[in-house]
Amino acid sequence: MVHNPYALVADRPEGATALPGAAFTDPAVFEAERDRVFATGWLPVARESELSTAGDFRSATLAGTPVVVTRDAAGDLHVLSRACRHRGLPVVEGSGNAGSLNCPYHLWRYGLDGRLLSAPAMERSEGFDAARCGLPVIHHETWGGWIFANLDGEAEPLGPRLTVLADRLAAIDPARLVTAATLTYDSPWNWKVMVENFLESYHHIAAHAGSLQISNPGLLTSASSDDALFTILENPPASPDFGSFVVGGVFPATLMFFTEGEAPFGVWYELDAIQADRFTLRIHLLVPPELAAIPEVVAEFEQQVRAVHAEDIPVCEGVQAGAGSRLYRPGPLSHLEAGLWNFHRHLSACFAAEA
Ligand code: FES
Ligand SMILES: [Fe+2]
Repeated sequence: MVHNPYALVADRPEGATALPGAAFTDPAVFEAERDRVFATGWLPVARESELSTAGDFRSATLAGTPVVVTRDAAGDLHVLSRACRHRGLPVVEGSGNAGSLNCPYHLWRYGLDGRLLSAPAMERSEGFDAARCGLPVIHHETWGGWIFANLDGEAEPLGPRLTVLADRLAAIDPARLVTAATLTYDSPWNWKVMVENFLESYHHIAAHAGSLQISNPGLLTSASSDDALFTILENPPASPDFGSFVVGGVFPATLMFFTEGEAPFGVWYELDAIQADRFTLRIHLLVPPELAAIPEVVAEFEQQVRAVHAEDIPVCEGVQAGAGSRLYRPGPLSHLEAGLWNFHRHLSACFAAEA
């Protein structure tokens, strides 16, 4: 039984502190998170607009489990395990369009709903029953244009728990936005460093002093802390010359950002291939469909997102090194970091539920 690194999370936001260094560095903590946080949580595996046509598929990894999202000929979405029911090779990698999922090892062929359609030279094998060799189906839900999946078949539905967030984002209508570009970064820090960085704008005052602080000053921001499944971070503008933006986090690791106004833009930080001390970050640029085909608009947005992330990279790398060091002791959090306390409560509840 791993020690619960979140046992000391304060019961009031005023008492909140940063996490102990072990939360960012201890491989045993990460292993426990896989089971208790990721294998029980709702995680985004694709945008619906990425699977607009029958036959579209997209691979992802869910709590270390290779999965694939498909749209079948009838238009229905499926999230399936990708591990072949023969000897386990992932039947597909990446994304594409296909009539069936054909394992590249021995050509077992699966329908887009996971059923095994054919398997060569298996007629003499007594234990073989095609009806019992389908790819396992994983529970999924669509929300805000994302396809969320949950490895826990008993998980509480997601949508009813996000109504406050959905109401806040109603004018933006995130489901309408399409992915115009994706930026990929190998990110050598613990996944929670990224979540915490995303869910507070206190750091605008220093890390983004020359960019976001000018448009959306850190000290004007505020975060909700009354729900342990999500947080909403408001970023009002410095003056009427600028626009506001809103950040949303659905725990454990769905990170979204939206500008407000007539043509809202969005960003989805997808944390993939998560390990104890690194992950692959894919930043998806979400734009209204009518703007997705205008290269100058997308290029300018991409440049802004890259510039902001370039300012976050050194602080995230630095936190991984400093918070993981021998003499680090967690410090108190500001009221501007209420979203982090919310996140910590979520982690603590996940560990307590399984203890
Ligand atoms: S491992 Fe897939 S067909 Fe053999
Ligand atoms: Fe930042």
